[in-house]
Amino acid sequence: MAISSHIRTLMQNSSWIRRMFEEGAELKARLGADRVYDFTLGNPDLEPPPRFKEELIKVASDPSPGLHSYMPNAGLLAARQALAEMLSRVHHLDFKPHDLVLTCGAAGGLNVVLKALLDPGDEVLVPAPFFPEYLFYADNHGGVARVVETDHHFNLDLNRLSKAVRPRTRALIINSPNNPTGQMYDADTLKELGHFLTHHSGRHGRPVYLIADEPYRHLVYDGAEVPSVFAAYPNTLLVTSFSKDLSIPGERLGYIAVSPRAAGRGELEGALVLANRILGFVNAPALMQRVVAPLTDVTLDITPYARRRELFCDILANAGYKFLRPKGAFYLFPEAPGGDDLSFVAALKEEDILGVPGRGFGRAGYFRLAFCVPESVIQAAAPGFARAKEKIAG
Ligand SMILES: Cc1ncc(COP(=O)(O)O)c(C=O)c1O
Repeated sequence: MAISSHIRTLMQNSSWIRRMFEEGAELKARLGADRVYDFTLGNPDLEPPPRFKEELIKVASDPSPGLHSYMPNAGLLAARQALAEMLSRVHHLDFKPHDLVLTCGAAGGLNVVLKALLDPGDEVLVPAPFFPEYLFYADNHGGVARVVETDHHFNLDLNRLSKAVRPRTRALIINSPNNPTGQMYDADTLKELGHFLTHHSGRHGRPVYLIADEPYRHLVYDGAEVPSVFAAYPNTLLVTSFSKDLSIPGERLGYIAVSPRAAGRGELEGALVLANRILGFVNAPALMQRVVAPLTDVTLDITPYARRRELFCDILANAGYKFLRPKGAFYLFPEAPGGDDLSFVAALKEEDILGVPGRGFGRAGYFRLAFCVPESVIQAAAPGFARAKEKIAG
């Protein structure tokens, strides 16, 4: 066998999103790409804001020497300083540059955090539905992901979480606004969660860290604001990126921010920096750090996402689908008519519509639709959505 048996197993279970994407590619090759309505991938299709391109040109034209060298593993001081100032303003806490580690996207940041926190066999609580990569990331570092169901509104269920906490529980990963549900936790929920984690940290004599994965923080609708996770609980690590805020996922830039109130702050920050290095990231992309440092207050104009959300919600509601209106991110997570997500996603495929079964996100009976596609695609898929629903559920 040329590869490890472990990675072979992981490859077999790798992801429903990939599987649907591959099936979609086959359908597109057969019918032509413009005849297939593909809602599988959360790949932002909007262009970055003009300020990003201006800054990119400026930085790329800078004749100063040494701009492409290695740097401290935590990232450029100027970038960390700019982020610390922005975070201090937003969260009313005194962030310092040493509280920040620039990473290769939120994905890199999550791996760095888990590497720093987990001993083999340590457990990480993951509320379902979840971003499927969390399970791989926990496994990457010898951790065990313990999946805990949320309620019917995808809100945290503290009773269930309470039953899942054990002496080996090291962290809980939350993601709000959420992929795949589009829902987000309000300030009261986070406050209760903070009390809950404080209680359980005390019980087992070591902190259970809250890892808040927030790449969709600025993609919220109807003027909503995402409450501060740092206000809710001291032992919090924020992991985020510019992938969605600036629509630059291919550039791989994100960061970790450690709460100034976190237990073991100094040692924890040292561990994150070492993890960033020895996982082989070394440091986050230099060019992007320079481009983004002056743009910490710039975000994408999300009007196109907001319009698509309106249109998609109207189409699904008119066809009789049951779903919660997304408050943020760019996903809809409706109930699968007939109850079986696999059969329903297959019925959609017969209409040349591609979605992802909910079981890929830890919640069977639902399916995910990503609206990172033009309004014309959503509109053109409307009759197919209506027919698929009628065929399955009558
Ligand atoms: C919930 C969630 N976390 C993390 C990521 C990874 O994002 P990044 O491009 O910043 O690595 C994604 C990407 O889709 C995501 O949806």
